[in-house]
Amino acid sequence: MSIIETRTSLYEKIYRFSSVESTMEIASSLAKEGAPEGTVVIAEEQTKGRGRAGHYWFSPKGGLYLSLILRPTFSSSYISQLSLMGAVGIVKSIREIALSLPSKIRWPNDVVIKKRKVGGVLSEVKRERNKVSFVIMGIGVNLNIEEFPFPLSLKATSLKKELGYSVPLRDFSPVLLNKIENLYFSFKKNFPSFLEEVRLFSSLIGEQVKIQNEGEELNGQVQNIDEQGNLILRLESGLQKKISPEKGLVIC
Ligand code: BTN
Repeated sequence: MSIIETRTSLYEKIYRFSSVESTMEIASSLAKEGAPEGTVVIAEEQTKGRGRAGHYWFSPKGGLYLSLILRPTFSSSYISQLSLMGAVGIVKSIREIALSLPSKIRWPNDVVIKKRKVGGVLSEVKRERNKVSFVIMGIGVNLNIEEFPFPLSLKATSLKKELGYSVPLRDFSPVLLNKIENLYFSFKKNFPSFLEEVRLFSSLIGEQVKIQNEGEELNGQVQNIDEQGNLILRLESGLQKKISPEKGLVIC
């Protein structure tokens, strides 16, 4: 007998907080207590916001800080693509809310406007006995942040800084949740469905980049993003190198 999935909405419950250390920890505790897929934690500010690779995430009031519990049943080899999916969701939301802004994905999980970071995705996977028990997808978007501390001020921006007017959280978050829901449902049906959008929105294809990959620094030209979400880099030596979205970090 085959089971047909009839779920039409991803979201179960949305927990809203004014201030937390990090929505990641709250979502992770809820998931450990058995909270279902689709549980969302949103905070107006974070005092210990976390980014990828141990970086901190500047999280004053005015930004969007959200963590979503996912319990994917597909093969764990696809899990690393969830961050790419989150980045596509951010870009599509920015393009819907403010069409004029040229937001792009800086593979794998940064969203940039004119090379300055406006959003990011942090996915944390909890495995039990070699199976994925849950994934917490954390999303941060600089909506209405007016000033960034130095040296972040050199490489970050916000929608408000780019547009000259505010984008209320209550307008942006439903759009983002809707995009993520659609992307996730189609991802479950057809795995690489959003990779075409990753390529379309990518700021890196054809660019010369410096990438940190498993402790080594690589220089080369980005050729493409393959069907597994890996970055295909042509090294200065002429050799091609495949870099997984879980491991690679673009330095510049
Ligand atoms: C990155 O680009 O390095 C990822 C940034 C992810 C930030 C979000 S904000 C909501 C959630 N809570 C956190 O502490 N981090 C993620």
